[in-house]
Amino acid sequence: MPEADKEGKNYYENVPQKGKLFFLKGSTELDWGMKNRLARIFNPKDGHTVMLAIDHGYFQGPTSGLERIDVSIMPLVPEADVVMCTRGILRTIIPPDVTKPIVIRASGGPSILKELSDEQIAMDMEDCIRLGVCATAIQVFIGGQFESRSVVNMTRLVDAGLRYGIPTMAVTAVGRDMERNAKYFRLATRMCAELGVQYVKTYYVDEGFETVTSVCPVPIVIAGGKKRPELDALKMAYNAIDQGAAGVDMGRNIFQSDSPLGMMKAIRAIVHGGEKPEKAYDLYQTVKDEEK
Ligand code: R5P
Repeated sequence: MPEADKEGKNYYENVPQKGKLFFLKGSTELDWGMKNRLARIFNPKDGHTVMLAIDHGYFQGPTSGLERIDVSIMPLVPEADVVMCTRGILRTIIPPDVTKPIVIRASGGPSILKELSDEQIAMDMEDCIRLGVCATAIQVFIGGQFESRSVVNMTRLVDAGLRYGIPTMAVTAVGRDMERNAKYFRLATRMCAELGVQYVKTYYVDEGFETVTSVCPVPIVIAGGKKRPELDALKMAYNAIDQGAAGVDMGRNIFQSDSPLGMMKAIRAIVHGGEKPEKAYDLYQTVKDEEK
């Protein structure tokens, strides 16, 4: 028979139970599992994240810089907070002893040769759970040919995610002929948040980005977009954080750089260290020189 517990006296009856509001914008009312996953994506110390986006192959095949993820991308992973990839790359290339949180690409369908807004949900929630992912990602084409279907697909993924505590990140895709301005991104990001996603990935704009973040009730992370000169990419990341973004989900401006590791470290210094772009550029340059 187990020994009877001798009641202690540490009841702290005059001490209110400790508890605090969840650190992430718009997430206070979520359930524990979802908050825990979000707290692995966003650092609770500063609310920021550096996501490394390497999912481009899901619609454009072996993208420049991603031809051999095992060779060129794996050395960058320790510098990222999160890896965003497809389940194919996760299962074939990324070793399961990598403990970085994974955000999984859960939409797909058309290739770069076709109408991109024709995407579908391309992954079951069951497989997301099996892989232990921290969030799903789905492209949403506001203003695109298949706008309505992509929005409804997003809500289906949100519903499935809520069932199992897995956050959904909407990615606002912009058609080639559409104007990328704050008005468009206010519309696109706000729609995604209103329809239930836990965070949104969108593009930075030079004019009025702070209005995009201020009226979106969930965190926003920025995509890097097309490759630009390193200092320009660092300035963009700095400005985005300064204007209310909670982080970056960056791909080409890292893995297409002449020093991907240098860019990873420089972006990290900005997002988590508040480093100015010029200082972060020096860091990139130093790493690049050391690699020679
Ligand atoms: C593109 O559709 C993918 O979702 C990428 O993850 C996203 O565009 C971010 O990558 P990049 O910084 O290269 O734009």
